[in-house]
Amino acid sequence: MRYKAKYFATTSKFYDTVYEKLRSPVDKKFYLEEILNCDGKILEIGCGTGRIFVDALRSGADIYGIDASRNMIKILKQKIEKKDHYRVSVADARRVNFDMTFDLIIAPFRVFSHMFTIADQQSFLKCAKSAMNENAKLIIDLFYPKPDLIHHPTKTLMDFEGEYKPGKKLRRYVTIEPDPVEQINNLITVFEWDEDSGIKKFREDFSMRYFYKFEMIHLLKSSGLKVNEIYGDFERNKLVSGKWEQLFICSPA
Ligand SMILES: C[S@@+](CC[C@H](N)C(=O)[O-])C[C@H]1O[C@@H](n2cnc3c(N)ncnc32)[C@H](O)[C@@H]1O
Repeated sequence: MRYKAKYFATTSKFYDTVYEKLRSPVDKKFYLEEILNCDGKILEIGCGTGRIFVDALRSGADIYGIDASRNMIKILKQKIEKKDHYRVSVADARRVNFDMTFDLIIAPFRVFSHMFTIADQQSFLKCAKSAMNENAKLIIDLFYPKPDLIHHPTKTLMDFEGEYKPGKKLRRYVTIEPDPVEQINNLITVFEWDEDSGIKKFREDFSMRYFYKFEMIHLLKSSGLKVNEIYGDFERNKLVSGKWEQLFICSPA
């Protein structure tokens, strides 16, 4: 099975419209606080279209970003000044060498869920750790594998409806096909949007690996990282039953 997560041009084009509404109210305040509390260099792994990165940079953060998707980075670059383009690059978090080290490394909004195999996960953590200063912090967020998200029969829902520009509608439909043995949710996303010439459609399939708490603790520890906190939400409450986010706050062991 070849797992997918390409972030094609259409997905990248509509990313901000969808996630400024669905995700920013949940996590953006937390990440901007962490970034602005850090005096040193910051790295965002999987910086995408800059949903968090752009505000951080505008607030004066010394932030750098990498992302595996050329399409996502292209959109990010359109939002920042040319003189800052050197701060972002297309790179795979599993096999990247940094020419600097960081005091804070973040991987916001399920970037680690694109690490499908144990080898992917270990390579990601090895690269991240090698880029951390002695007292650096690494923050990884994941969704908690909520039973109804991973054991339900396949179903389709419309998870976004809005306008991508004035008078032009965008809808997104998501079908989730769970594979509990591989701990993968296969997602079929379909965008449907208005153009002057009529309604257009585009489909992109995504795979999302999900992780359990103790699996993450083992992975992080075996990668030479110390787990300092595990939050269950972006208000920094502990992960307890009934919480559906998992945030791992780590430092080098
Ligand atoms: C859900 S988006 C999150 C983007 C951004 N961090 C945010 O919070 O909006 C996940 C991002 O991870 C990137 N990604 C996936 N696999 C990656 C890899 N191996 N190396 C670097 N980036 C990767 C994707 O291209 C995508 O832009």
